[in-house]
Amino acid sequence: MSIKIKDLPDHIDEQITVLGQINVLRQQKKFSFIELGYGDYQVQVVVPAKFAEGLTTQSYIQITGTVKKLPEGVYSKMPIEISASDVKIISKAKADFEQQCPSNSSADIKLEKRHFYFRDPEFKLITILRSQLIQAMRAHFESTSCYEIIPPSFTGVECEGGASLFPIVHPGKSHDKPMTAYLTQSSQFALEMLLPSIGDCYCISPSFRAEHSHTRRHLTEFLHFEAEFAGIMKFDDHLDKLKDLLKGIISHFLLIGERSLKELKKYDRVQELLKMTDDILILEHKDAIKECHQRGIYKSEDDGIKIPFDERDDIPEAQERKLIDDIGKIVFLVKFPKEFKSFYMGLDPEDESRVLGCDVEVPGVGEIIGSGVREGDYDRLYQRLKDHGLKPEDYSEYLDLRSYGFCQTSGMGLGVDRMLVWLLGMYSIRDVVTFPRFPGNLRP
Ligand code: 4AD
Repeated sequence: MSIKIKDLPDHIDEQITVLGQINVLRQQKKFSFIELGYGDYQVQVVVPAKFAEGLTTQSYIQITGTVKKLPEGVYSKMPIEISASDVKIISKAKADFEQQCPSNSSADIKLEKRHFYFRDPEFKLITILRSQLIQAMRAHFESTSCYEIIPPSFTGVECEGGASLFPIVHPGKSHDKPMTAYLTQSSQFALEMLLPSIGDCYCISPSFRAEHSHTRRHLTEFLHFEAEFAGIMKFDDHLDKLKDLLKGIISHFLLIGERSLKELKKYDRVQELLKMTDDILILEHKDAIKECHQRGIYKSEDDGIKIPFDERDDIPEAQERKLIDDIGKIVFLVKFPKEFKSFYMGLDPEDESRVLGCDVEVPGVGEIIGSGVREGDYDRLYQRLKDHGLKPEDYSEYLDLRSYGFCQTSGMGLGVDRMLVWLLGMYSIRDVVTFPRFPGNLRP
């Protein structure tokens, strides 16, 4: 039986057999040196030249040999190496692997040859860190006694506006009467419906938006981390939840991802970002508009004609990012005009033309979280549905929540990959997502 690479340090001076992939191959006159294995566990193998014939990078091989402590002054990922006495090629890789998608390839090649790019040393670490960020999110919520749910991907109604719905044909009760379903834009309603039963809850699932956005932060399918909290009696309670969440996730990420973050040289950056959570700026939308005026950020600047924002304008992505980069802090952008936010957001009792929403904005990326207090009043919610051109009868289960003991909830949705872009200081969401889906890109 072959031994797992991670268990090799328990077998020093023993004769063993291991299976693994050749990540790096350095062929020299008398010996060849192989980095064998995957992910965090790669071992150096010293192979006498006579066994190294025909080896190629990425071939899957079986090594028989002796486990040795690493000699003084030699660096390797593991504290041991293998001195090989036999090598068997199990599956040979074609010799042109290194020309398929070298690390310095263009962004387009990295997308087209994604299946090869997965084996790039840096992208490998990013993929491991993505998994560790998801673990950190679960760890944060498990420490706050919040249950994870698995929501459905098919829904019958919209949550975030009809323009970005993905309609699909779903079987109906009989063959001749199919139904229209939608791929979910958000699992918020599922969380809200379960909360009166199981209490605070969260999910990490894909959401889908049929957006024709070719930006560096939009996908048509993205990993969405959403949560719903009960007993939020004041807007500040909601903002405190968001602060705890950011702090909690980043702290867990530093612990769980320490090794990979250090290898990618991002550990110090993430530590600095954790410190930023102690100095968050809470900025009302109306003050953000004033900031834009003061900082020379315009609604449009076509042909040299600069048009400033009006008080109730939505600030588009590019201008919003410029503002946040200029401020240089984590910003909780709050209290938006109700006309451009979703029907479910609670109204601000101090100004009922605005909603108690909070978008979390970070330098370099912009919005990573959309959140807010939910509208708890049946009649007002009914009217807001109508104002948004929706049919209240399609939302009868959602409306029922307001008639059977509404738990005064607030909730949030965090784009997992937007957060990873921020934490790792990358440029685009496509630099971190394993299989990015955006207009025109469905393969691999
Ligand atoms: O602001 P959004 O649309 O909020 C909602 O979906 C709420 N129902 C969430 C809730 O309260 N449960 O989306 C939340 C976050 C955004 O801040 C962003 O990070 C991410 O989801 N997001 C996208 N990420 C990648 N590509 C897209 N097209 C995205 N749309 C939203």
